[in-house]
Amino acid sequence: MRVTMIGSGYVGLVSGACFADFGHDVTCIDKDQTKIDALKQGKIPIYEPGLETLVENNVRAGRLTFTTELEAGVTDADAVFIAVGTPSRRGDGHADLSYVYAAAEEIARNLKGFTVIVNKSTVPVGTGDEVARIIKETNPDAEFAVVSNPEFLREGAAIDDFKRPDRIVIGGDNPRGMEVMREIYRPLYLNKSPIVEMSRRSAELTKYAGNAFLATKISFINEIADLCEKVGGDVQDVARGIGLDNRIGPKFLNAGPGYGGSCFPKDTLALLKTSQDYDAPQRIVEAVVSVNDNRKRAMGRKIIQALDGDVRGKTVALLGLTFKPNTDDMRDSPAIAIVQTLQDAGANVKVYDPQGEEQARLVIQNVEYCASPYEAIEGADALSIVTEWDEFRALDLRRVLTMLKQPVLVDLRNIYDRDQAESLGYTYVGIGR
Ligand SMILES: NC(=O)c1ccc[n+]([C@@H]2O[C@H](COP(=O)([O-])OP(=O)(O)OC[C@H]3O[C@@H](n4cnc5c(N)ncnc54)[C@H](O)[C@@H]3O)[C@@H](O)[C@H]2O)c1
Repeated sequence: MRVTMIGSGYVGLVSGACFADFGHDVTCIDKDQTKIDALKQGKIPIYEPGLETLVENNVRAGRLTFTTELEAGVTDADAVFIAVGTPSRRGDGHADLSYVYAAAEEIARNLKGFTVIVNKSTVPVGTGDEVARIIKETNPDAEFAVVSNPEFLREGAAIDDFKRPDRIVIGGDNPRGMEVMREIYRPLYLNKSPIVEMSRRSAELTKYAGNAFLATKISFINEIADLCEKVGGDVQDVARGIGLDNRIGPKFLNAGPGYGGSCFPKDTLALLKTSQDYDAPQRIVEAVVSVNDNRKRAMGRKIIQALDGDVRGKTVALLGLTFKPNTDDMRDSPAIAIVQTLQDAGANVKVYDPQGEEQARLVIQNVEYCASPYEAIEGADALSIVTEWDEFRALDLRRVLTMLKQPVLVDLRNIYDRDQAESLGYTYVGIGR
């Protein structure tokens, strides 16, 4: 199959590379010339484990090409995937669909022969209808079907998620369009990944419902963590105690500083906007969003509290800035609000992140960026783990103790053992324990 990806970001590039690896002929298009130039030189513009090798192999095999020229990729394609961003719209929190609609228009002008237009971007219910309308209006003679195929990959484990998904959701009602989709995903079907077919609107909603549910688990366990702190419980034990129940499951039950990233914050917000438009309130999701919003600054206050409520003139070392490990994505990372809260209270902040510094510099200023965890820790009054990168799990805590001015360890990801830390002499503050 000839497959074209419009948008070569996290989703477009990973999906494109994986489709190529399945044996399809893939063209990845982006309007960002710098990104395409880099990709042509074998440089990967994002940090995603395994992606560089996957791209390199498939480029070498002649199955994966990059271009800014949309026409070349669309005219001959069996399927054109829209994988452009759908950020929160400034001002009202609705999903900003301008990139999707612009892509639809450009695709329409270049369609030749029957083509499936696949919405892979996360888009509110009804967007597929609007994409179909735009294509028809722009090119009345075009033969096409619009299908929804939301993406569930996680940054940091994107390739594995794409190649071994829990399920593939395909929404559409055009038999020819659905046939093309089955053919594209056939290699996964052979791997026994379930393909769930449904209406386009149901597929669009499935993506938001899935993310809202996962966000709910996170806000739920974070509130239970707060209660644990008040009553002397340990949230990790509680999480394990409930997570072993198959009906609940152990994932997304790690208490922490709140969810961030490119999806949960904007998708929960967009779902709320849709629910308002259709007069079907989603009160649980409303609570989830509000709990999460309040939590990020509360984590900054937790660090301040650990330093006796006064950080003016003191230095705090933060390890990990990205919203989760194994990515360089800083979008809506809790670290942004935590740094702000500390700075508002007069603290100096030193930071280190294994992969996120370049992106972090765009959103976090007036901090000292350090080249290693120990450089950040040296001379600080307190150390706080904000993101649980593996390399922080094995820090030499004895050495750290000698480098800190005060033995204060605020572990916002619960990666250390309280008893061990306290036996070394730390004042240890975890989450919900
Ligand atoms: N990042 C994730 O983990 C993830 C997971 C599942 C779903 N999604 C969804 O997938 C979509 C894409 O997310 P992302 O993280 O890959 O975004 P991204 O910002 O990393 O990439 C989007 C790319 O699209 C390009 N683009 C925009 N308009 C274009 C056009 N008209 N023609 C060509 N290129 C164009 C941009 O230059 C950019 O490189 C979003 O809707 C997101 O919600 C993301």
